[in-house]
Amino acid sequence: MDSDRKIETQYTGAVNSASVDSSLETPDYVWFKQAMLKKSGIDLNQYKQAQMHRRLMGLVERLGCRDFKEYFDRLEAKPEEYAIFLDRMTINVSELFRNPEKWRELEEVILPEMLKGKRPLKVWSAGCSYGAEPYTLAIILDKLSPGVKHTIDATDLDRTILERAKAGRFTQVDIKQIKPAEIARYFNETPSSGGMADLEMRFEVKEEIRRRVNFQQQNLLADRFSEGYDLICCRNVVIYFTDDAKDKLYKRFASSLKPSGVLFVGGTERIFGYQDIGFTMPVPFFYRRTGSANAVAA
Ligand SMILES: C[S@@+](CC[C@H](N)C(=O)[O-])C[C@H]1O[C@@H](n2cnc3c(N)ncnc32)[C@H](O)[C@@H]1O
Repeated sequence: MDSDRKIETQYTGAVNSASVDSSLETPDYVWFKQAMLKKSGIDLNQYKQAQMHRRLMGLVERLGCRDFKEYFDRLEAKPEEYAIFLDRMTINVSELFRNPEKWRELEEVILPEMLKGKRPLKVWSAGCSYGAEPYTLAIILDKLSPGVKHTIDATDLDRTILERAKAGRFTQVDIKQIKPAEIARYFNETPSSGGMADLEMRFEVKEEIRRRVNFQQQNLLADRFSEGYDLICCRNVVIYFTDDAKDKLYKRFASSLKPSGVLFVGGTERIFGYQDIGFTMPVPFFYRRTGSANAVAA
C-alpha cells in the first residue's frame, strides 16, 4: 500500500483536548488517526490522548512495525489484527451489578417511581460491552414488573464483544454480586470442568431474559441516537473520552431522554454543569432531564 496517499475526510487534525502533548502528534500518528477515521468512522482524537497513544504504541511494538503507517497496513491486511486493535482501544471490563449500591438505588428509588406510570419503559445501555449491564437491567425490570415488555436497547462500538453479549454467558466472577436464589432464577448453570473454575463461562442468562435485550453496533461519538428513553445507562465508557467529547455526548443523551427521563453514570463519573444541560441530580450519579432540557439534537 502507498503509505503517502492522501486521505480526504472531514477530519480536521485537531486534538480537541486542553491537555495535548504535541510530541505525541508525530506525522505517522496524525496520518494513522485520519486513516482510521476513514476506515472505521472512529475519531481517535475524541479519546484521551496520552492513554490512547500508549495503548496503540504497545500494539505497534508488539507487531514490530516501524511506525503507525506500517501498523495501519497490517490492520488492512489482517482482519484479526483489526479486531485486536478494536479490543485494545475500547477496554471491555464489566460485571453484572457493577457497583451494587448504585444498582440498589436504581431498583429501590429511581425505577419504582418510573413504573408508577404502568407503561413499558424504554431503556438503553450505551457502551454495553459483553452484556453484563443490559442483562442487569433486564433482571431488575423483571423483578419489579414481571411480564411487562420493556424495550431494552444495548449498544457498543465493538462488534466482536456484541457477539459475546448476545450469547449471554458469564463467569463466576461476573456474577459475584448476585444472590444464589437469583442466580438460580435467571441463569442456567453448567458444572465446572475443573482448572480455572472462576474464569469458565458456566452461567448462561436464561432465554426469557436474553431475548428482551436488543443488541446493536453503534459509535456513540458519531452515530445517530434513538429518542424517547426513560433511562439511559452510560457507565465507565466516557472515562476514555476527551472533555469536549464528553460534553457533547451528555447533551445528546439529554436530547434522547423523555422529559423526566434519567441518565445513570458510572461510580467515578460526574457531569459538571449538569444544570446548564437541563438536568437535576435527584441522587448522586443519576441525572434527571427537566422539561426544559437545554439539549442539542442528535
Ligand atoms: C469498560 S466497558 C463498560 C461496560 C459497562 N458499561 C460497565 O460499566 O460495566 C467500556 C465499553 O465502551 C465501549 N466503547 C468505547 N468507545 C465507544 C464508542 N465510541 N461508542 C460506543 N461504545 C464505545 C467499549 O467497546 C467497551 O465495551
